[in-house]
Amino acid sequence: MIREFTGRVCVVTGAGSGIGRALAYELAAHGARLALADVDAAGLDETKASATRLGAREIHCAVLDVADRVAVLAWADATAERFGGVDLVVNNAGVALTADVEEMSWDDFEWLMGINFWGVAYGTKAFLPHLRRSPEGHLVNISSVFGLFGVPSQSAYCAAKYAVRGFTESVRQEMRLSGSGVGVTTVHPGGIKTNIVRNSRAAAGHDKNEVVALHDAASRTSAQRAARIILRGVRRGRARVFVGADATAIDVGSRLLGSIFEPVVRVVSKRTGPTTLLPGRRPAPAGPPAPVPVLPPNRYSDPVTGG
Ligand SMILES: NC(=O)c1ccc[n+]([C@@H]2O[C@H](COP(=O)([O-])OP(=O)(O)OC[C@H]3O[C@@H](n4cnc5c(N)ncnc54)[C@H](O)[C@@H]3O)[C@@H](O)[C@H]2O)c1
Repeated sequence: MIREFTGRVCVVTGAGSGIGRALAYELAAHGARLALADVDAAGLDETKASATRLGAREIHCAVLDVADRVAVLAWADATAERFGGVDLVVNNAGVALTADVEEMSWDDFEWLMGINFWGVAYGTKAFLPHLRRSPEGHLVNISSVFGLFGVPSQSAYCAAKYAVRGFTESVRQEMRLSGSGVGVTTVHPGGIKTNIVRNSRAAAGHDKNEVVALHDAASRTSAQRAARIILRGVRRGRARVFVGADATAIDVGSRLLGSIFEPVVRVVSKRTGPTTLLPGRRPAPAGPPAPVPVLPPNRYSDPVTGG
């Protein structure tokens, strides 16, 4: 079990923004050695510059698509060789998609599953042999509260996050049964103040500005706080970590209410949006398509200040 991150080799995907960037900052402040990856080279550069200032002992960044299995496998081996081992892996990179099943394109569905599920699966399988060699190896996979209950217009996201949960809990059992010391944690964040929805895709008929506004209003936890909660969970060897009071309430509520939770979700959905829980779905307007709305700019550029 990792009790102290100083000098440990820590891998974070999706480190160019949000929770991944905040994890990199927290680990840097503890003097960790960092291997960071993201598809966003500019975001990664910003993270690297700040993490260096915060005290990271060593940082190596890779511009990497976690949905590219061959690239992830090669990166894992190169990382272990470069640092002489790997102690902590956080499969965090993720994207969002708002679309009802019938209107969701196969392309969008596969894009999301490629990153949110397969990216986690590739990262897990690629790094597990290296984590097994560490006396304190620990794997963290980021699911969501949407891995706890079904949400209208979020079928792809929920499918991926439920899959991450089942996959990760199975890996944990396997590590335990095989006598391996590798710790495994599934993380279920509630609403976190990041840019995930600004950078998301939405099917026609969904107002992305409205989705962004709802996510901003519903998100109570900063990325920095989320990172601290996740790393505390790692230090304590937790199987599951719920990030934010909303996540804890949803976990408890869904288990206590059982099958009654589902109609509750529908009622909340109807109140907060025309047909959905988070996103505002509008019937497709008659006549020519409306101009693409100007989205609010990325708001949470720095998870430490939330600015
Ligand atoms: N923000 C929330 O409310 C919330 C809630 C629950 C779960 N999560 C999960 O937390 C994780 C982090 O999300 P966030 O909120 O920090 O979002 P974010 O958009 O701020 O950061 C996600 C990062 O992942 C990167 N990324 C996207 N596709 C990638 C790919 N193919 N390969 C590599 N990197 C890629 C992005 O460039 C970005 O830097 C995700 O898995 C997300 O599903 C977020």
